[in-house]
Amino acid sequence: MQEILKKYKTTKPEDVQVWFKAAHTSSFPKDGGACVKYKDLQIAVFNFDRLQKWYACQNLSPEKQEMVLSRGMIGDHNGIPKVACPLHKKTFSLENGENLNGDLEPIATYPVKIEDDFVYIGFSE
Ligand code: FES
Repeated sequence: MQEILKKYKTTKPEDVQVWFKAAHTSSFPKDGGACVKYKDLQIAVFNFDRLQKWYACQNLSPEKQEMVLSRGMIGDHNGIPKVACPLHKKTFSLENGENLNGDLEPIATYPVKIEDDFVYIGFSE
């Protein structure tokens, strides 16, 4: 099970090698998320409309290794945009993946850019 977690590695903007064209912006609910596939990864993409920002992270909750984070509620934790896992409500920063209400390993996060109304996710490979 841990093997699957290792596939997800945070990508910093300066390390992006591939901008993956994920989908049209209208495919993502406002103030909600949707899952996209890149190679064998499932990536949760969030259209944080209230903040006028987009975020991407692994769809895999690190606790029970379920592909659920894209269905999580997004919100704010002391000014940090976060997603709550729908299963046990563990929350993670959408900026750096940190588990904000526990001691789980951080989740992987990925840069997002919007060009011509399409959502692109940055990967290092
Ligand atoms: S499986 Fe996500 S918090 Fe428990």
